[in-house]
Amino acid sequence: MENIKSLNKEIFVDSEEISQIVTRLAERINNDYKDKDPVFVVVLNGAFMFAADLLKQINVLSKITFIKLASYTSDKSSGTVKQLIGLNENLKGKDVVIIEDIVDTGLTMQSLRKQLLALDVNSLEIAVLMFKPHKFQCNYPIKYIGKEIEDPFIVGYGFDLDGYYRNLPAIYQVKE
Ligand code: PRP
Repeated sequence: MENIKSLNKEIFVDSEEISQIVTRLAERINNDYKDKDPVFVVVLNGAFMFAADLLKQINVLSKITFIKLASYTSDKSSGTVKQLIGLNENLKGKDVVIIEDIVDTGLTMQSLRKQLLALDVNSLEIAVLMFKPHKFQCNYPIKYIGKEIEDPFIVGYGFDLDGYYRNLPAIYQVKE
């Protein structure tokens, strides 16, 4: 607990840059979906702050739903098989945009994509705040990327260390 409290961290992406990134993504989404009726699927927990800021700038008629992912306890080895919790929207025939905070190896998103595609959606795109291209092990397209980063450990703006620091308004890199 003490080392969590006295965490050595420095600004990685400040609030102003986050705001610019979010505005740029929102403009693209507004343009791409202006004649559509999209459903935004927000992946909890990490994406809550990004999603709130992004969705405030979405001006097309749309629905928002929230899901959580849980690993199947019996298959910890792969870490990729996930269960959807809380999907209560019928997505059949819908234009769906997943909102996620980060794609790292991409395995979580790969599994989520498969599950949503199986629901017979009309289209499926991904909006992600942070993307680690060097760690990405998959080959599906990510249409809306906020920022490409290397591999820092980050906290703030939804990103956590053991559940802490998600509330910070900027993104910090944790130092040794
Ligand atoms: C994080 C993030 C993605 C996943 C990305 O979730 O929100 O869901 O890891 O990693 P991957 O691309 O290597 O699969 P986490 O399990 O930390 O949960 P959280 O959103 O509640 O913080």
